[in-house]
Amino acid sequence: MCIRQIVYVSSGTREYSSEEVEKIADTGRSNNAQNELTGVLLYYDGNFMQLIEGSADSVDETYKRIVSDTRHTGILPLQDSMVEERSFPDYRMGFSSIAKDALAASPDLFEKLPTGWGVKPGADIDQKLVVLFRTFFTINSGNFA
Ligand SMILES: Cc1cc2nc3c(=O)[nH]c(=O)nc-3n(C[C@H](O)[C@H](O)[C@H](O)COP(=O)(O)O)c2cc1C
Repeated sequence: MCIRQIVYVSSGTREYSSEEVEKIADTGRSNNAQNELTGVLLYYDGNFMQLIEGSADSVDETYKRIVSDTRHTGILPLQDSMVEERSFPDYRMGFSSIAKDALAASPDLFEKLPTGWGVKPGADIDQKLVVLFRTFFTINSGNFA
């Protein structure tokens, strides 16, 4: 259990364009490469969800920086735990912004997330993550069904 994994949701302090969010993810990617952190950043309808994983110290240091970033607010940690292995070993900071109309046009998008997001097959958290991602998009799309 030597990998710390944090998942949080937050709200952008304003609405960002895909380019702006891509810039945030870019900074993350280069910092995270240095700190040996991996994870995923999602953006949908003004809200973020991020999973960040790595050594306890690196996650702690980076998460503190993220929390004090004024580009988002209302940071709500959903999970903070020590796990056996990374769920996203190949993602320095995989990023996806899903447009509302794309989601409306493809309601089975959730079903595609496991492979689409490169969740490592058989990883402990696999199903949990899928549930979290689905929850995130479902809540944000206002579809509570
Ligand atoms: C939603 C969101 C996610 C972020 N994710 C990361 C990340 O994964 N890694 C990272 O180093 N910085 C991330 N950042 C940027 C940090 O908050 C911070 O701006 C950056 O690390 C540079 O910090 P510094 O200016 O103190 O050097 C994120 C910012 C936001 C708003």
